[in-house]
Amino acid sequence: MTWIVTGGAGYIGAHVVRRMRVSGLDAVVFDDLSGGRADRLPGDVELVRGSITEPDDVNRLLRGRRVDGVIHLAALKSVAESVAEPGRYQSVNVDGMKHLLYAMREAGVSRMVFSSSAAVYGRPAGGTVSERSRANPINPYGRTKLDGERLIKEYGIRSVVLRQFNVIGAGTHPHAADTGTTNLLPAVFRAMAPGAEPVAVLGDRYDTPTGTGVRDYVHVADVVRIYLDAIDHLRSGAGEDQLIVNVGTGAGHSVRDVLNAVGEAADRPVPFRIAPPRDGDVPAIVARTARAAQRLHWKAELSFAEAVRSAWEAWPVSG
Ligand code: WQD
Repeated sequence: MTWIVTGGAGYIGAHVVRRMRVSGLDAVVFDDLSGGRADRLPGDVELVRGSITEPDDVNRLLRGRRVDGVIHLAALKSVAESVAEPGRYQSVNVDGMKHLLYAMREAGVSRMVFSSSAAVYGRPAGGTVSERSRANPINPYGRTKLDGERLIKEYGIRSVVLRQFNVIGAGTHPHAADTGTTNLLPAVFRAMAPGAEPVAVLGDRYDTPTGTGVRDYVHVADVVRIYLDAIDHLRSGAGEDQLIVNVGTGAGHSVRDVLNAVGEAADRPVPFRIAPPRDGDVPAIVARTARAAQRLHWKAELSFAEAVRSAWEAWPVSG
């Protein structure tokens, strides 16, 4: 049976698709290639080009196929961009998702794995969050992800919601590297090129041990396993209609730690400058991970240093 992977040509999506193939699951990728790249996909995976913002594209995707479920990753994902252009985030991440959910309901497809985000929590007191912590997003990106989680329920679709923390790293497929985003690692790697501008450390006076932002960085090679666990869970039919799980390691690392780890991997220091904090950023956010372990038997296994090193090694112009 087939699982549709929206956004399957993106950074996380392409890693998930490759893992599905290894596990013998059939994947059909739906992607408009706005952020995704076809060369991230294995040659024998069907790619349907289309946008979730176009009802016709979405209906065409589901028509005439026997689909077991949908893994939904297609979305815009930059916090900073969402602050500048909230309407575009609403249109793609929320309105687009409605088209998809509507088409699923019409086609009788009733299972979804949803790629959600730690951004739904907003600015948590104490910096550590369990799935029971209040969801209170402080930027449009986080709000669209929380709206998405709620919409799935409204449409009566059974789901596993993966609230991913900061996914980094690469598998053994260099084309799948995370290249085009505003996230920290790509920004650091760009600063390592000869003659490049130093990377901006966005705030060094946060109430954290180093003064820089603290995040829970999780290796994409670990993250892909939980997508497969989520599929198994949905196929088993057990449990509640919506299972929400944090996808993180439980350990926090600061921007300083990231600069040090990249410096180690590259064997030379990272050029950086201190800049003001970014709108919509929080000082610290780290996952509690007990639920993923209990409910999906999933635990991150790879270290922060390994994750950073694999990302550096996959970076197109590293070394
Ligand atoms: C990490 C840290 C920045 C860039 C968001 C989403 C999350 C996930 C990843 C989607 C922060 C600092 C960054 C830079 C910096 N989802 N930073 N200089 O904002 O934590 O998470 O993206 O993709 O759900 O919320 O990720 O990588 O942008 O930032 O100092 O040039 O690095 O302030 O402390 P973020 P990020």
